[in-house]
Amino acid sequence: MKRNFITTSEWSKNELQSILDFASELKANRIQPLLKNKSIALIFFNPSLRTKTSFQIGMNQLGGNAVIISPGQDAWPIEFDVGKIMNEEAEEHIAEVAKVLSKYCDLIAVRAFPKFQNIKEDIEDKIIRGFEKFASVPIINMETITHPCQELAHILSLQEQLGDLKNKNYLLTWTYHPKALNTAVANSSLIIASKFGMNVTLLCPTEDYLLHDKYIDEAKLNCQENNTNFTISHDIKKSYANKDIVYAKSWGSIPFYGEPNKEKKIRDQYKNFIVDERKMNFTNNALFSHCLPLRRNIKATDAVMDSDNCIAIQEAENRMHVQKSLLFNLLKE
Ligand code: CP
Repeated sequence: MKRNFITTSEWSKNELQSILDFASELKANRIQPLLKNKSIALIFFNPSLRTKTSFQIGMNQLGGNAVIISPGQDAWPIEFDVGKIMNEEAEEHIAEVAKVLSKYCDLIAVRAFPKFQNIKEDIEDKIIRGFEKFASVPIINMETITHPCQELAHILSLQEQLGDLKNKNYLLTWTYHPKALNTAVANSSLIIASKFGMNVTLLCPTEDYLLHDKYIDEAKLNCQENNTNFTISHDIKKSYANKDIVYAKSWGSIPFYGEPNKEKKIRDQYKNFIVDERKMNFTNNALFSHCLPLRRNIKATDAVMDSDNCIAIQEAENRMHVQKSLLFNLLKE
C-alpha cells in the first residue's frame, strides 16, 4: 500500500528516526543509484530556493529524474473543489492532474502555502489532500500548513550537534517580519520538538500570535507522553533562560486572518522580538536555527547568524540528505 509523507503526525518517532539514520548514511556516501529510472513531479504553487534545488539534485544523485511544475505558470491552473462547475480560471481538475501524473511519475511532491483568508480551509490542507485522494503514487509535502521535510532536517542537525535530544530545553520564538507569514514551520517545530522528547516553550508577543490549537494540542499531548513540559510564554527573558536550542520563525496572527492591514499595526509593535546576542546570552549557550529564508537584522542579527552557534546552513544542507532518505523509504519494496 502506498504511504504518504504529508505530516509527521502520521509517522511514529521510530519510523522518522530510521529515515534520519539512513539520511546520515547518504550524507557520508552521496552518489548511490538507489532510485535509478524513478521519477518525481515537484509541484510548486509558491516560490522556493532550498526545496526546489535540494529535491531536484537529490533525486539526480539517486539516479532518478525530477520534473518541476508550476500550475498557473508553466502548467494549467487546477481546480480542487469536487463537483464545481469550472467556469473560472482553472483549466483542469485535480482528479485528472493527479491521475495523469501518477502514470508518468513514481512520486508527487507538492508545495501549496495557505491562502491566509480562512483558517478552517487552510487547516484542511485541501490542495495536498486533493493530490492524496486522486493520486496512486506517494505524496510528499514540500510545505503547506506544516513543513515536515524541514522538521526532518531540523532534527537531524540537532542530533548531529547534541546527540540524544531527550529533555533538552527547546524554544520556538516568534520574530518580527514586515509581512504576515505562513505558520507552517512554526507548527512543525512544535510537533517535532515535542515528539523527540524535548521540553518545549512557545514564545510569542501576545495571545493573538498563538498557533492554532490543533498544533498546540498535539505538542501538549506529545509532551505528556514523553513526560516533558510544554510552556506558552510572552516573557522574552524567562523564555530564553536555560534553553539549549532557539528556533526562530515569524508568522501571521490567526485572529486577524484576512485582515493584513489591521494585523500589521499590531505586529509593528513587536520588532523587539528579533533574535540578538543579548537574548542569546540568557540561554544555556544555545544553538540557533531558522528554516531560511531569513531577513538579517529583522528576524535575527548579523552577530547571531554569523556565530558558531548558528546551524541554519547545516539544517539547509540536511534538507537534501533527509529528503533523499525519504524518497528511498517511500519507494522501497
Ligand atoms: N526552508 C525552505 O523551505 O526554503 P525554500 O522556501 O527556499 O524552499
